[in-house]
Amino acid sequence: MIRFQRPQLPPSAVIDNYLGLSREARWFSNGGPCSQLLAERLGERVGAFCTPVASGTLGLMAALTALLGDRTEGIALMPAFTFIATPQAAVWAGLRPLLLDSDPAHWHLDPAGLEATLAKGGEARVAIAVSAFGTPPPAAVRERWEAACQAAGVPLIVDSAAAFGAVADDGVPTGAQGDVEVVSFHATKPFAIGEGGAVFTRHRELHEQIERQINFGFWPDHLVASGRGLNAKMSELHAATALAVLDEYDSVLKRRRAAAADLRARVEAPVTWQRESERSTWQFAPLLFADEGRREQALANCADAVETRVYYRPVGQLIPDQVDVTEGGTPNAEDLHRRLLCLPMANDLSADEVATIATAVGA
Ligand SMILES: Cc1ncc(COP(=O)(O)O)c(C=O)c1O
Repeated sequence: MIRFQRPQLPPSAVIDNYLGLSREARWFSNGGPCSQLLAERLGERVGAFCTPVASGTLGLMAALTALLGDRTEGIALMPAFTFIATPQAAVWAGLRPLLLDSDPAHWHLDPAGLEATLAKGGEARVAIAVSAFGTPPPAAVRERWEAACQAAGVPLIVDSAAAFGAVADDGVPTGAQGDVEVVSFHATKPFAIGEGGAVFTRHRELHEQIERQINFGFWPDHLVASGRGLNAKMSELHAATALAVLDEYDSVLKRRRAAAADLRARVEAPVTWQRESERSTWQFAPLLFADEGRREQALANCADAVETRVYYRPVGQLIPDQVDVTEGGTPNAEDLHRRLLCLPMANDLSADEVATIATAVGA
């Protein structure tokens, strides 16, 4: 059985080499030397301020409270086609998610739906767009998200959990989109450290606010704090692991993209690949079938040899009482969920395994 994912960590000697900085300083959290170095290196790579955090979900929660403060009533706009953590962060922050549809051409939040909803006015306090499956949105789509939010005076968070390392078609790297962009370093992400993530922003004041939010909401004098402050700091052990991952990450992305290109070439079934997927980090390999029947057939073909997943279940189906759905519903999100099948990916997926997966998917 080819596992859906089989994360790898860097050799312990490389992690320990970085961790030596923390041992020497006898400083293992609270922005210790590894976390500081990681923030510097990630920030330089992206061209934005960076805050390492303990998970992507905590990063989203910190971003929301940094943007909105403790006054948290109102609506958070987001796609239905995302992982459950996106609406959960908003619900935790006291917001009511309003789910919008995705565009079947690229599987990301449909900018037309966002524009129409924001143009109506209402209580939208924030929009959270998502880089679906670690693929950056086409620049033209991102520009429409940004323009619509700016015109409405609503901040834009981009949840790019799986997309660290991707660069959009206009050269904008993941981390430099929207007002704030959040990535995950969970074990199942291409940049895998176990649990972790990072929050990026190009705005200094917002960065300072995010830094406060992840440290119990304390202001620098520790005399005042935020009611929704968090302990979302990344530990030094995780930051040392992330530094070791970063050293090899370009080669990891190259290998995943080569395996994905090989898979694309070998799959004979009439399927659609995500637009811009050549720019993706390939958390896994999502395939869109022409109809649900063909997807079910491929699922059955894979059953004994290839572990698969069916993502994303539209989040309104998971927490129906805690979200609202845009007028007209989210038919594209539901249709994508019915026709998509996610296939395995790994840093070391071999040519033989790619051939086995392609054969299992069928013609
Ligand atoms: C779209 C999306 N948002 C948020 C998250 C949450 O990230 P984490 O698992 O690091 O909390 C994930 C991944 O699990 C995700 O896929």
